Amino acid sequence: MGWVKGQVREIKRWTERLFSLRVDADVEPFKAGQYNRLRLFIGGEWVARPYSYVNPPDVRPLEFHLVTVPDGPLTNRLLHLQPGDDVELMPRSTGLFTLDQLPDARDLWLLATGTGLGPFLSMLGTDEPWRRFENIRLVHSVRYAAELSYRDRIDGFAQRAPGRFHYQPLVTRETVGTIPRARIPGFLEQGQLEALCGLEIDREHSQVMICGNPDMVRDTQSVLKARGLQRNRRGHAGQIAVENYW
Ligand SMILES: Cc1cc2nc3c(=O)[nH]c(=O)nc-3n(C[C@H](O)[C@H](O)[C@H](O)COP(=O)(O)OP(=O)(O)OC[C@H]3O[C@@H](n4cnc5c(N)ncnc54)[C@H](O)[C@@H]3O)c2cc1C
Ligand SMILES: NC(=O)c1ccc[n+]([C@@H]2O[C@H](COP(=O)([O-])OP(=O)(O)OC[C@H]3O[C@@H](n4cnc5c(N)ncnc54)[C@H](OP(=O)(O)O)[C@@H]3O)[C@@H](O)[C@H]2O)c1
Repeated sequence: MGWVKGQVREIKRWTERLFSLRVDADVEPFKAGQYNRLRLFIGGEWVARPYSYVNPPDVRPLEFHLVTVPDGPLTNRLLHLQPGDDVELMPRSTGLFTLDQLPDARDLWLLATGTGLGPFLSMLGTDEPWRRFENIRLVHSVRYAAELSYRDRIDGFAQRAPGRFHYQPLVTRETVGTIPRARIPGFLEQGQLEALCGLEIDREHSQVMICGNPDMVRDTQSVLKARGLQRNRRGHAGQIAVENYW
């Protein structure tokens, strides 16, 4: 399959390991929540990995939020790209982690670890979630507070829908101000997440999207399933949609 040549326009460093890449490339239309692939020629071979869009579909440049993983072949190269450098992408995007796969409901919960925040930013930058859901809750769990990225953009969502949107950061490896030091599944199981978010999750009113660390995705699903929520499947409307990053 053919690849499209993209050009790095900008790199934003959030921390030493966490960054965002803005890329100019001519890709086909996509939906918020979908992903493309980035590839570079490394050590005599092409190395490609999937990355979710952060930008809403009608916004350019393309934007990706990445973390450098230890010994990760691609991320350790992407981290050092400079404006003007080439990076290749697929012409067509893929993925079913999109709002059009969700039944209508009153409340939308978006639960992310690390760079799993990205697809939710893309979705929240479109009209669809605001048109379809009365209440939206965005939960972002990171190890260190410096990794709570995109705060300005998230503040913009809060201003867009006063009273309907709440952002709940969680930091797991340091204690910072009033931010809870907790992981998503445990905090949810104890009822504390909903208490802080001022909204309860239940199978009648909630749709829950979960993205990022696969262990978090698994454990959070277990907590939700114990309360009677189920995965959305083709031909069977449930309440849970997931995207595992590895
Ligand atoms: C559908 C999909 C969408 C993805 N979107 C993103 C994205 O938007 N941003 C992003 O940073 N990654 C994303 N990933 C992960 C990404 O594709 C790569 O796996 C990652 O960037 C590491 O690539 P690598 O070649 O450096 O190391 P690899 O050899 O591919 O990975 C090594 C190990 O690093 C860990 N790891 C991989 N990705 C992450 C991550 N994001 N956060 C924490 N630990 C991780 C895992 O333990 C993995 O086994 C996505 C994966 C999938 C399947
Ligand atoms: N962040 C760093 O400073 C750092 C430093 C060196 C290397 N790395 C490496 O970089 C990669 C990416 O790190 P990352 O911090 O972006 O991603 P991560 O390890 O997935 O952590 C992101 C968030 O997910 C939480 N989490 C992890 N497992 C969970 C589970 N089973 N249930 C619920 N929550 C869970 C973490 O909590 P916990 O903190 O409780 O795990 C953290 O809040 C990893 O390969 C890591 O080894 C990271």
